[in-house]
Amino acid sequence: MFLWSQVCSLSPYISSLHLIDELMELTAQSLSRLEINDHFNIIKEIGRGKYGKVLLVTHRCRGTPMALKVMPKASTKLQGFLREYCISLHLSCHPCIVGLFGIAFQSEEHYGFAQELVIGKDLFAVIQPRVGIPEGAVKRCVLQIASALEFIHEHGLVHRDVKPENILLLDRHCCRVKLADFGLTQKRGTLIRLISGTLPYMAPELCAMAVEPGERRPRAEPLSVEPSLDTWAFGVLIFCILTGYFPWERCTTSDDFYQEFADWCQSPAKAATPSQWKRFTPAALEMFSRLLAVDASHRCTVGEVEAYINVDWVRTVPPGELVGDDGMVKATSTLTSTLNSHYIRYIYTHSSPPADTESHGCNSVRETCSKSRGPVAVEMNVRMDMTNDRCDFEYCMIAGQPPGIFTG
Ligand SMILES: Nc1ncnc2c1ncn2[C@@H]1O[C@H](COP(=O)(O)OP(=O)(O)OP(=O)(O)O)[C@@H](O)[C@H]1O
Ligand SMILES: [Mg+2]
Repeated sequence: MFLWSQVCSLSPYISSLHLIDELMELTAQSLSRLEINDHFNIIKEIGRGKYGKVLLVTHRCRGTPMALKVMPKASTKLQGFLREYCISLHLSCHPCIVGLFGIAFQSEEHYGFAQELVIGKDLFAVIQPRVGIPEGAVKRCVLQIASALEFIHEHGLVHRDVKPENILLLDRHCCRVKLADFGLTQKRGTLIRLISGTLPYMAPELCAMAVEPGERRPRAEPLSVEPSLDTWAFGVLIFCILTGYFPWERCTTSDDFYQEFADWCQSPAKAATPSQWKRFTPAALEMFSRLLAVDASHRCTVGEVEAYINVDWVRTVPPGELVGDDGMVKATSTLTSTLNSHYIRYIYTHSSPPADTESHGCNSVRETCSKSRGPVAVEMNVRMDMTNDRCDFEYCMIAGQPPGIFTG
C-alpha cells in the first residue's frame, strides 16, 4: 500500500523536477527575440567561463544594473540553455544562490538571461596562492554554500560544478556569498557515460568516466549523478580555500598526491598522514575523511560540515610554544609539516623528523641542523628550488638559543 505520508515526503523532490520540465517547455514557447544593445547598455564584461561570458549591463528603460549571462548559439544547444535558465530560476529564491530577473532571450547570435549583479569578486579571485583565505572567512563561506547545496539536493538536483569560480562574493570577507552557474546541473539519477577531461574537484568515480588518450570508451560502467559528487567537490573546495593549492590534480591512480591520500584513508592507523594534510587538526581531518570518502556510499552529506564549525581546522603553533619568556627557543615536541610544490614549512623535534623529510629532498637540512647545533626543536622555512633540486632554508629555531636566521 502506498501511504499518503510517503507521497508527501517525495513530493517536493518530484514536483520540483516536474516543474523544471514544465518551465522549460513554457520558456521555449515564449522565448523573446531581442538584440542585446536595443534593451541593455553594456558597461563591461565581468566574467568569462568555458560556456559563456557575463556582462555588466543596465536595463535601457529602468536603469537597473544586471549581470547578463550570454552564450553563443554556435556552441550552445537550446535545450542546454533552457535547462540552465529554468533550474537557475527555480532555485534562485535561496538567499545563498544567485538571483534571477526572469528575463531570458535569444538574439541573432546568443542565448542569454539576466542575473542579479553580485558586485564583489568570485571566491577564486580572493584566494592567496599557497596561503588561502582566513579560517573564519572559510567557515562563513562553507556554511552558506552547504545551505545552498542542501537546498539544491532537496530539489532532486546535483550542482556538478562546485568550485571557487562559481561562488560569488558580496564582500571580501565572505559575510555574504552566493552559489552560481547551473550550466552542469543535472537531475539526481541521470546517467553519465563518459567525460572528456578531469578537474581537481571531480570525485574518483567521476574521473573513472574519463577517456584516456587512445581510448574510445571509459573502463567504468555508466555513473548515476548523485549529491555525493557535490560533497566531494565541496571537500576539495574547502581544502583549496584553506591552503591556496589543490590537494591533487585528478583522482586517478596515476596521481601520487591522490593515491597517497587514498592509501591513508584506507588505513589511517598504518599509513602516515600525507604531508599536505598535516596542517589540519584531528577534527578537520575527520571532516575531510567524511567529505572525501573514496567510496561514494560512505561520503557524508554537505550539511554535516556544520558539526565541525566550532572547532579549529588549521593547527596553530602559538609563539609561546616555541619561544619562552626569556626570548629563547623552548624544547618542544611539536611535529607538523605542510607541503606544496614550492614551499615547505617544518616544525619538528630532532629525535623525530617528519617521515617525509627525505622524500622531499630535505635531508641536508636535517643533517646540518643536527650535526652543527644539535637542536631539540627546529622550525624552519625551506624553499624548494624545483629547477635544480636545491633546498635553501631560511629560518631556524634552536632550543636554548634566540630564534635566528640560519642559511644552509
Ligand atoms: N551574477 C554575477 N555577478 C557578477 N559576476 C558574475 C555573475 N555570474 C557570473 N559572474 C562571473 O562570471 C564568471 C563566469 O560565469 P559562469 O560561471 O556563469 O560562466 P560559465 O561559462 O558557465 O563558467 P564555467 O567555465 O565555470 O562553466 C564567474 O566565474 C564570475 O566571476
Ligand atoms: Mg563557472
